[in-house]
Amino acid sequence: MKKLILEGGTRLRGTVKISGSKNSALPCLFATLLTDEKCVLENVPNLMDIDSSCLLLEHLGKKIIRENGKITVLHGRKTDPVAPYNLVSRMRASALVLGPLLSRYGSVAASLPGGCAIGNRPIDIHLDGLKALGARSKFSQGMVRLKGIKLSGSMIHLKFPSVGATENLLMAAVLARGKTVIHNVAREPEIVDLADLLNKMGANIQGAGSKTITIIGKTSLHGTVHKVIPDRIEAATYLIAAAATRGKIELEGTCADHLHSVMDALSKAGAILQVLNPGGSDEKISCEVKKPLKPVNIITEVFPGFPTDVQAQWMALMCTVKGKTLIKETIFENRFLHAAELRRMGAQIEISGRQAVITGVSKLSGADVMVSDLRAGAAMIVAGLMARGRTGVNRIYHLDRGYEDMEIKFSKLGADIRRRK
Ligand code: EPZ
Repeated sequence: MKKLILEGGTRLRGTVKISGSKNSALPCLFATLLTDEKCVLENVPNLMDIDSSCLLLEHLGKKIIRENGKITVLHGRKTDPVAPYNLVSRMRASALVLGPLLSRYGSVAASLPGGCAIGNRPIDIHLDGLKALGARSKFSQGMVRLKGIKLSGSMIHLKFPSVGATENLLMAAVLARGKTVIHNVAREPEIVDLADLLNKMGANIQGAGSKTITIIGKTSLHGTVHKVIPDRIEAATYLIAAAATRGKIELEGTCADHLHSVMDALSKAGAILQVLNPGGSDEKISCEVKKPLKPVNIITEVFPGFPTDVQAQWMALMCTVKGKTLIKETIFENRFLHAAELRRMGAQIEISGRQAVITGVSKLSGADVMVSDLRAGAAMIVAGLMARGRTGVNRIYHLDRGYEDMEIKFSKLGADIRRRK
């Protein structure tokens, strides 16, 4: 079985290039369904989730050309707007075909995404929004079927600022008749990136990044070229790994504006963070730890709060910080599976509902651990890097879904990490 093997204890040093954002590239790829013209996406990471999206797009009639982080999406052939189970079940983000296919073709059928390790993850907010735009929905044989021959703009209030629902509704409303106003939308940088892409394709979207987005529907969109934003979760993972090993690293190709909550927490813990050339195309973030870290409590929140996708890595970091740290997870109902694996490495963690209390120990010790989801996997890597002895990280297909060249990048920073095929 494939696994990553780490010998802990090396302080990370050097420079790491941050890849394009997985969670931005995915909706951007599905947005290309809104036109038959050529779309080019740059800075796309080479990941399993991107492979799965390309397969789904090809099934939906697109022709895909991939070269060095660039994906060209062309019209291939006409097909039915149907996303089958074998393609959707690979990746929950496949639900993002609903909005663009419905608005483009007036109907869509997609296999329903199930839950996953971190929670139930329903899509009721997506469906309620699409119904407000005029779609009718039906469920049968594990598929959701939506019909809405001509969608009409509407006033929508999301009961929770869901990232995926906001993305699906943006992609539906851009081709709906008239004006759509969506309140209580997600404000994550990935939403702003998707809106930028859609506007470049000819859409009229205003307010992305704020709590209300206004969309004036167009009759058609056209092709464009778009560079995907840097992956803020990958960046946060490397910053935390540097702090965990009491090292000194620099991130290239990143954006500090997307990372305030994580950088604030790291600074409070005692890391020295600096942003070089802020706002420039060559912006860099450096992170150095010179003295023992202090415990810092976090509560996961929607952007600009502390990201749920960094909670597991933060827990790993706090495992060897003297004192008690409180972590509260407010986004997903079951996102503490990594705690049990960290305990196997000697961590002291108590879980009660959505709260975790970590009591710092002086050292973790290497062990064989299992990855339950992508970010839990990142936490195992952070823990393995600082542990005494050897850590074997199993089920690394979760990591391959979301971290490009992870072991290559960590090796370049001096870590003793290798993949056993
Ligand atoms: C996106 O998932 C990300 N995925 C997740 O990243 C991230 O953890 C999450 O946003 C929160 O930031 C992608 O962008 C591909 P949500 P998404 O809809 O869109 C509930 C990673 O590790 N909810 O904002 O699925 C839901 O159950 C991943 O890269 C409903 O109840 O997240 C959850 O508790 C994992 N009904 C909360 O809202 C709905 O219709 C947030 O979900 C939709 C969501």
